[in-house]
Amino acid sequence: MIVYFNGEFLSKEEVRISPDDRGFLFADGVYEVIRGYGVKPFKLEEHLKRLERSLREIQIDYPDAGKLGPIAEKLIQMNKLAGAEFTTIYIQVTRGAAPRKHTFPEEKTPPTVYMSASPGISQKEKIERGVKIILVPDIRWYRCDIKSISLLPNVLANQQAKEKGAEEAVLVRDGIITEGSHTNFYAVFEGRVLTHPMNHHILPGITRDIIVNLCRDLKIPFRDELVREKDLPRAQEMFLSGTSMEVTPVVQVDDWKVGKGEPGPVTASLRAGYKKMLADFFRS
Ligand code: PDD
Repeated sequence: MIVYFNGEFLSKEEVRISPDDRGFLFADGVYEVIRGYGVKPFKLEEHLKRLERSLREIQIDYPDAGKLGPIAEKLIQMNKLAGAEFTTIYIQVTRGAAPRKHTFPEEKTPPTVYMSASPGISQKEKIERGVKIILVPDIRWYRCDIKSISLLPNVLANQQAKEKGAEEAVLVRDGIITEGSHTNFYAVFEGRVLTHPMNHHILPGITRDIIVNLCRDLKIPFRDELVREKDLPRAQEMFLSGTSMEVTPVVQVDDWKVGKGEPGPVTASLRAGYKKMLADFFRS
């Protein structure tokens, strides 16, 4: 597998990351996950914009972040992934390697930049059938809008989900549903889609933006409004969105069923809209 590392294309085995790297020592870095369909990364500009924002928010100086698009495309080609069902493109930028000290390293320390493209693993069946989620306390920090590589709470939550036979852990802060461990969360009440407002408690999901636009196009009422845990049993439908899970219906929460325990009509319309968008993108 050919990857991109600090300005070079190398075989993955050749990559050497210093034990002094601040990503390794402090999780001092940010990342992006992008999907490629055919030879093209989907919503590339949006992901790179979010990467630039994350870098800015934690003051990592890497002016070339917006120029990583052609490298993603080259990785797809070099790894002969154009024929794969889809590709997962991963980008990580850390504050570089320097002797361990909490304060930022000297200005001349270059960031560590890593990028890979690998064949995606299809979740089609799961997505079609709908998934189970569990609710867990949101123990993350107050800047969840930054796509930080510091993902321990997300890892622990998702592992808990796996152990309980669920696909995703949905996080609850002060009685309010924020988002999933690696997805945004939505509940449908009387045909109206509700999701957490964009603020520092959630990641501004690229797929969330797509959902907002699809709701507008399909004339599905949408509100970014707080959803309380206690109100969830009244929801007729729930779903998750994210680069890896696309639009995934939720059919079970802990040990109770959502609605009839099968994907509902609003989710189905949004899924169909999303699929059509992908098909158009693939063909373009
Ligand atoms: N996760 N919320 C969180 C906490 C996330 O980590 C993600 C993405 C999302 C959805 O964002 P988007 O639609 O831009 O993918 C929401 C990626 C896929 C991951 O960590 O694997």
